Amino acid sequence: MNSPSPLAQTAGSHSSSEAPQIPSNPFAHLDGAADEAQRRVIRYLDAAAAHPEMQRMRSAANEMFAPAPGERLLDVGCGAGEVARQLAARVGAEGSVAAVDQSALAVSVAESRHDGTSVDYSVGDITALDFPGGHFDGVRCERVLQHLPDPDGAIQELIRVTRPGGRVCVIDTDWTSYVWDGFDHMSDVAGQFPFPHPAAGRTARARMVKAGIRATTTLPVTLRFTVPEDAAAVVPFFDDEALRICVQPELTKRFLTSVRHSAERGDFLFAFTMWITIGRVAAA
Ligand SMILES: C[S@@+](CC[C@H](N)C(=O)[O-])C[C@H]1O[C@@H](n2cnc3c(N)ncnc32)[C@H](O)[C@@H]1O
Repeated sequence: MNSPSPLAQTAGSHSSSEAPQIPSNPFAHLDGAADEAQRRVIRYLDAAAAHPEMQRMRSAANEMFAPAPGERLLDVGCGAGEVARQLAARVGAEGSVAAVDQSALAVSVAESRHDGTSVDYSVGDITALDFPGGHFDGVRCERVLQHLPDPDGAIQELIRVTRPGGRVCVIDTDWTSYVWDGFDHMSDVAGQFPFPHPAAGRTARARMVKAGIRATTTLPVTLRFTVPEDAAAVVPFFDDEALRICVQPELTKRFLTSVRHSAERGDFLFAFTMWITIGRVAAA
């Protein structure tokens, strides 16, 4: 289980009697993270993007978002920019995609992978975007709200930069939705992970409706894993480094032993749900 973890910024070691330290979240402050944590985050983004279950979810999200030739679109919290480039291929040379991330590191990685499509990469904060009101035909934001102090403020800003009648698409995880079979201690372990907004995916619809978005459609996509190493590419609960940082050592040991036995028997099963929520900004 060598996949990098989204939560493993600080690398403290614990004696068996020590409570684990609460890690800071490198996804919320990537540029301030230690070098090794930065490398892990980028590796994590790549591993997750390459995973068939994540690709299945993104494919459904792209169909719902339905980018059309000539459109002006925004991907906020773009990470390594993979989705922005997919969108750019759909809008074509007549359209454009702005790919914005708070992290200069993420933006530089995204730029280094530029493929010649019409993507404009820039550093920016979702809570204060550097675009005029009503600038975009569509705005997309994946796995960002769960890391923010004020997800509702972020949604307001997504709406501000979207034209009347344009669409806002929020994709996020519900880390409280996990189910499992074949091994023990799952809920004890998950309870020690300090996600800022673990239910961001499930609550996106209510947040968007409250913010005035109309005609909201929401789709749950359940990602499932039958091999622990495969799950670790997407799910921090199975990542050694994240466990070391977030979870008490004795509990980690019991958990990993049980997971290993489950893998040996061939009955490991873990699933969690992501939510794709899309709606239209009210006409002026
Ligand atoms: C889990 S990653 C998701 C990246 C990408 N959307 C994806 O799905 O691969 C979260 C991203 O949100 C960015 N982020 C965090 N806070 C942000 C903020 N206030 N404004 C813009 N981006 C932010 C992080 O730098 C990181 O690249």
